[in-house]
Amino acid sequence: MQLSLGTMLPSLWERTSLKTLFLLSAILLILAKYLQRRRQHLNYPPGPLGLPILGNVFQIDHKNPQITFEKFVKKYGNIFCTHVGNLTSVMVTGLPLIKEVLINQGHVFIDRPKVPVHYHVIKTFGLVMSNGQAWKQQRRFALMTLRNFGLGKKTMEDRIREEARYLTEAIREEKGQPFDPHFQINNAVSNIICSITFGHRFEYHDSQFQELLKSLDDILQLETRWECQLFNVFPWVMKFLPGKHQELFREWKKVESFVESIIKQHKKNLNPEETLDFIDAYLKELSKDNIHSSFEEKNLVFCTLDLFFAGTETTSTTLRWALLYMALYPEIQGKIQAEIDQVIGQSRQPTLADKENMPYTNAAIHDVQRMGNIIPFNVPRVATIDTTVAGYHVPKGTIVMTNLTALHRDPKEWATPDTFNPEHFLENGQFKKKESFLPFSVGKRVCLGEQLARAELFLFFTCLLQKFTFQAPPNTQLSLDPEVRVTTSPVPYKICAIPRAM
Ligand code: HEM
Ligand SMILES: *[C@@H]1O[C@H](CO)[C@@H](O)[C@H](O)[C@H]1NC(C)=O
Repeated sequence: MQLSLGTMLPSLWERTSLKTLFLLSAILLILAKYLQRRRQHLNYPPGPLGLPILGNVFQIDHKNPQITFEKFVKKYGNIFCTHVGNLTSVMVTGLPLIKEVLINQGHVFIDRPKVPVHYHVIKTFGLVMSNGQAWKQQRRFALMTLRNFGLGKKTMEDRIREEARYLTEAIREEKGQPFDPHFQINNAVSNIICSITFGHRFEYHDSQFQELLKSLDDILQLETRWECQLFNVFPWVMKFLPGKHQELFREWKKVESFVESIIKQHKKNLNPEETLDFIDAYLKELSKDNIHSSFEEKNLVFCTLDLFFAGTETTSTTLRWALLYMALYPEIQGKIQAEIDQVIGQSRQPTLADKENMPYTNAAIHDVQRMGNIIPFNVPRVATIDTTVAGYHVPKGTIVMTNLTALHRDPKEWATPDTFNPEHFLENGQFKKKESFLPFSVGKRVCLGEQLARAELFLFFTCLLQKFTFQAPPNTQLSLDPEVRVTTSPVPYKICAIPRAM
């Protein structure tokens, strides 16, 4: 959900119904805003001059914002600036400038922008949208706790391998018939976060579990509705009006109380001798008194929910891309299976240690992530002070988005930029890292779950390909067209998982 920020602006531009509403409400403010912007225009990054308030809404092809952006990049170069409402955004393209923003000036662009529809619910809690001291404390604690629960150790790996066995069983039940793998994959991935935070996994058909997942999904869907985008521009008005944004806030309340009830049970069963999960660890931190700390129960609720939001949809989407690419590139799938058979065989389950001996499989997973490119504009940052990028003035408060698509599809970096091809990550049969590959971003705010996500991707993927061959259903053409949700996902598809003859 929080990740939807990256797509927020384009989708805002797509809502033509906003035009009329904006026009009516904006007229009074136009003059004042226009004068203000003129004054500020000194040495800003180039960009289309827009109307006050409405900004560049009318300059963008609403049906196909990509095309407009391409024109902007051609016309204005690797850094350009657009306005919508009160927000000024700068889009940065190309490895040198992206590194400048995320690494060299990482301390300047360390914060997240304050988005009203998030702020209304999350305030300054959690991991993804928090800033400053609170963000530092919560992030450090979450990383440390993940590590204590075995991130990079055997225990976490065992949890993922156990879940992979359940996933394999659930897919075997489909008996090779066409099915949409979304349900099983989402359950499996989500269960990893459940076992870290709650201390246990759920059966896939557990009604509470399904309700939680449904709410998470609804929140992600509702976010993109125009009422919620309008809330971002006029929160003080929209707060009092009915609409999808109110439904969004109700869904949030539901998931909040779900987590609260689980916290209550944990409090009852808390054992001073033993810390079983993230909630236990957090409750123990709460019992230390420190008036200056950001540790409070509300923050526990939102950190937990952030781990769900950031950790479920992303990894699940990547795995759905992976199965799709397997069905569409059977010879690559065959090579991966040959590597699995040679290094692991059929009698034991894959482990993380196998990765080192499986350069082809590892390379294929990397190229799925490159092509899937599920968070195309990264998660936005905001300038915490006035600064200069590529010689242009970027004032405090400017939102900065980094165009990861440009890295992942750069014809100078990749032999076949628009085609799935594991060779991109291979050199003389060995795995080769690439600088222009940043699906988890980079710098101090880099994805907190990168290590966990990589472990999940490798183990789930190899466990599935060890046991099944993925194929398009008879007389069906699978499509690689993306569906822009919170993450760029494949359009829903059905696939056959044919058990491998052993
Ligand atoms: C394939 C899977 C994943 C991808 C592609 C991905 C990608 C990203 C990206 C691009 C960011 C923004 C980083 C930035 O602003 O520079 C991010 C942040 C984050 N991710 Fe992931 N992520 C994945 C899986 C996970 C998992 C499994 C977790 C759960 C532990 C997780 C937790 C987070 C959190 C908490 C943040 C916010 C970090 C912060 O603001 O300090 N992610 N992720
Ligand atoms: C991002 O980069 C891609 C590839 O170079 C380009 O097609 C696209 O228009 C860029 N998008 C934006 C918003 O800059």
